[in-house]
Amino acid sequence: MKQDNKEYAERNLFNGLNGHSLISPLESQNNLVEPKIRLGILASGKGSNFEYIIKSIQKKQINAVISILIVNNPNCLAIKKAIKYNIPYVIINHRDCNSRLEHDKLVMKKLEELSVELVVMAGWMRIIGEELINKFNNRLINIHPSLLPSFKGIDAIEQAMDKRVTITGCTVHHVQKEVDSGSIIIQAAVPIKDKDSIETLKKRIQEMEHIILPLAIAKVAIEIRTNFKDKK
Ligand code: GAR
Repeated sequence: MKQDNKEYAERNLFNGLNGHSLISPLESQNNLVEPKIRLGILASGKGSNFEYIIKSIQKKQINAVISILIVNNPNCLAIKKAIKYNIPYVIINHRDCNSRLEHDKLVMKKLEELSVELVVMAGWMRIIGEELINKFNNRLINIHPSLLPSFKGIDAIEQAMDKRVTITGCTVHHVQKEVDSGSIIIQAAVPIKDKDSIETLKKRIQEMEHIILPLAIAKVAIEIRTNFKDKK
């Protein structure tokens, strides 16, 4: 995205849904935590959200360090981005594990080893279990390509098109046991155009994901430093 995130977000706020997108809430954008918040990123796919988190850190829109990228499959393209930006990464292949719990425990161990404070599921296509969720209670967030609570689960963009809704979008939310059900942190609305294909709509939704995920990280980082200070 060419525009500066903040400028782009503000422009969209003022333009409303008149052919553009709308982000709400926006109050988090100027808050920076000190010292840097330690992030653990979980990814399974292309890693475009992962890359935008890196760019937001570089642009000082969030004061964070990415302690680790964890991927669950060796072909995940996010690995290439980690190499490009010199971010430590580890492959914890779920196929090498006998159970979901075993995989979750390996992920958890790595996150704890590195004293990760906030875990960001940036295109993580696996359901995680209660143990990991409880360990990072209120410190584990996910990005989902719909306006939750509509269109939970996989193929959210296809679901929205099938239902012929005229506005969809993306949501960053806290992770709870029930899939895509935790409390909502920030959302962006994206109108669906008559001529949209899944690909064109996905592209516009992802442009908004790249803006709202860093905003959500900034917001939750402040909450973590406020609420978890004494528990570390
Ligand atoms: C994103 O669009 C994200 O919303 C979606 O996966 C994509 C990952 O893209 N996540 C889910 O559907 C989770 N249910 P990326 O790898 O380019 O960041």
